Amino acid sequence: MIEQLLKDWDGETVVVRYDRPTGAWIFIAIHSTQLGPATGGTRLKSYTSPEAAISDVLKLAAGMTYKFAVPGFPRGGGKAVIAIPDDFDPQSRTDLRRRYGKLIQQLGGLFYTGPDVGTSSTDMDIIAETGAPYIHSRTPSAGGAGSSGPATAMGVFTGIQVVCEQLFGDASLEGRRVLVQGVGDVGESLIEHLRAAGAEVLFSEVDEKLIRRFRDELGFQFVPAKAVYSTECDIFSPCALGGVFNGDTVSQLRCRAIAGGANNQLAGPEDAERLRTRGILYAPDYVINVGGAMAITGIEALGWSREEAMRQVVTSIQGGLRQVFELAEKEGITTEGAALRVAEEHLSTGP
Ligand code: PHE
Repeated sequence: MIEQLLKDWDGETVVVRYDRPTGAWIFIAIHSTQLGPATGGTRLKSYTSPEAAISDVLKLAAGMTYKFAVPGFPRGGGKAVIAIPDDFDPQSRTDLRRRYGKLIQQLGGLFYTGPDVGTSSTDMDIIAETGAPYIHSRTPSAGGAGSSGPATAMGVFTGIQVVCEQLFGDASLEGRRVLVQGVGDVGESLIEHLRAAGAEVLFSEVDEKLIRRFRDELGFQFVPAKAVYSTECDIFSPCALGGVFNGDTVSQLRCRAIAGGANNQLAGPEDAERLRTRGILYAPDYVINVGGAMAITGIEALGWSREEAMRQVVTSIQGGLRQVFELAEKEGITTEGAALRVAEEHLSTGP
């Protein structure tokens, strides 16, 4: 099973560590160093099996390659997964993070990392104690550029504006109905932009605390998980986990377009075609969720100011997504297929 996964993968290297003290598996996938050092988040969660964790990290690492390749940003694609056991003792988290940092440090610049699902800037502070200088997105008090969520959200918001431009001939969000799935780091900041732009914002979430905050305190309309795909809206924005679109969910959708921050939203390549057949415009996830990784690495490694970083995020995503929509229309292919072509062209011409 693992052998097959690795044979079928078109990336460069996978680093494997079994962390004996905690029973966690650490997998670091280096998909491509063609445009620069492999860079990607560290995801920390429990998986049903080590195979499931490998399968996830391989796909996520490839996603990072394409994410940086569309705007031609000088970074390669990689990702790390720390698959913790179900009985993981939170007390052991600090030591685990230090051992993980040491491992990254030993890789000597093959892989740079930042936060992802299950990790935050505070985790990066600890990982950086042993993993510097390869750790991005530490808290500002530890000398880093902070959370990548707001920049990712800014990029997704820009993507949503381009989607409106394509659908309605006007980038304005005034009166448009947008459903955001997941109000974590990215979703939270995204719905603020949407509300400020005059959109009618709905959200879906599974965490009770977040539901109370966004529904009861902030007054957003709440959509329960079971109705999330079938609720009518102009734009559906997945900002939680990946793999949300499959034959079943695509047939339930009652939206005009999809544009969100989650990585790997399509369960399989055939789902892009399913969306196209249904006439739903899909903004490929990696084209519009590059904002966080681009802004943070730009600030920390390329010396960009925060303003410069935001400007780069907005212009890159606008340009990238418009190019993808144009190519898809011209060639009669899915937007996912068009994005892959743009990415592959940049990969073949090099940095
Ligand atoms: N989670 C980010 C992403 O998927 C990864 C990242 C964040 C990388 C910050 C570098 C810096 O794009």
